[in-house]
Amino acid sequence: MIMESNDKDELERLRIHYLGKSGQLAQISKEIRDPEVGRVFNEAKIAIEQALSLNTKHQSLDIDMSLPGKLPPIGHLHPVTNAIEEISGIFEKIGFTRARYPEVDWDYYAFEALNMPKTHPARDDWETFFVDAPENKKLGKLVLTPHTSNGQIHEMEETLPPIRMINIGKCYRRQSDVSHTVMFHQFEGLVIDEGINITHLKGTIDHFVKQFFGKERKSRLRPYHFQFTEPSFEVDVTCDICLGKGCKLCKEGWLELGGAGMVHPNVLKAGKVDTTKYTGFAFGWGVERTYMMKSGVKIDDLRLLYSNDIRFLNQF
Ligand code: FA5
Repeated sequence: MIMESNDKDELERLRIHYLGKSGQLAQISKEIRDPEVGRVFNEAKIAIEQALSLNTKHQSLDIDMSLPGKLPPIGHLHPVTNAIEEISGIFEKIGFTRARYPEVDWDYYAFEALNMPKTHPARDDWETFFVDAPENKKLGKLVLTPHTSNGQIHEMEETLPPIRMINIGKCYRRQSDVSHTVMFHQFEGLVIDEGINITHLKGTIDHFVKQFFGKERKSRLRPYHFQFTEPSFEVDVTCDICLGKGCKLCKEGWLELGGAGMVHPNVLKAGKVDTTKYTGFAFGWGVERTYMMKSGVKIDDLRLLYSNDIRFLNQF
């Protein structure tokens, strides 16, 4: 009866009738002697009180249907995930195939097949984490991949030329400061075909730079050394603030994007590619650093990207 009523006055009458000072329950309680009957009586009283309070609350809810609804907080993808999707999309549109190779891999793929023999000092550049696991007789120790260049060898083993690969994965190095994180991402491009030369590399870089950073940004190749490319370069992009003129932030107008070069014949041979027929180029750049160089993105400390601070992430 209480639950069925939708009349406020009737509910009040019922409350007085059952629960009032001289109401029915007050009368009955005077006659109770048996504790068991007392317990059942209390349960009934509580049930009546609850039914009355529930129904009264329901009756007094004033709902203004014209008020705008409250949006629940909605999350979004991490800025690095968005950058990865944007980068791979640019390369996929010009015929590259997205690949992903092991992030825990053998020394052979991370170093040896990339023209870095066991004792070569260039290995120190990668400040590698070694996994405490049994060594493989042929492939050596297990490492947390310090770069995505291991993907070059895997790709050559799995695919016959022509190859157009964009390999995006996690890398690990013993480094931590404003521009280095222990875990970061790289995207590695590899193109192998007949007649590939440096102009194809420069054309691909220019295309990426214009698409990702904007038409007003330019790129340049600066001579460098990597064991697995010959010749090797570092790729620079004009600064997003001064566009190459030089300013307080960049000093001489250019910001470093990452490494590139023509694939070394020893690397092609390790991947069983016919070096009399094919040549190739490769590049490997950091996703986080590339993203930081986009116009309007102001991140002073790369480590913030992985701090899980919602106040920081909400800005993107
Ligand atoms: C390499 O790792 C080479 N494998 C790149 C390469 C590929 C060269 C193919 C030639 C051909 P390097 O150590 O310079 O090169 O790293 C490349 C980029 O990764 C850097 O320019 C930077 O953008 C990014 N990077 C390197 N270490 C870190 C780190 N600790 N935190 C964030 N980004 C990093």
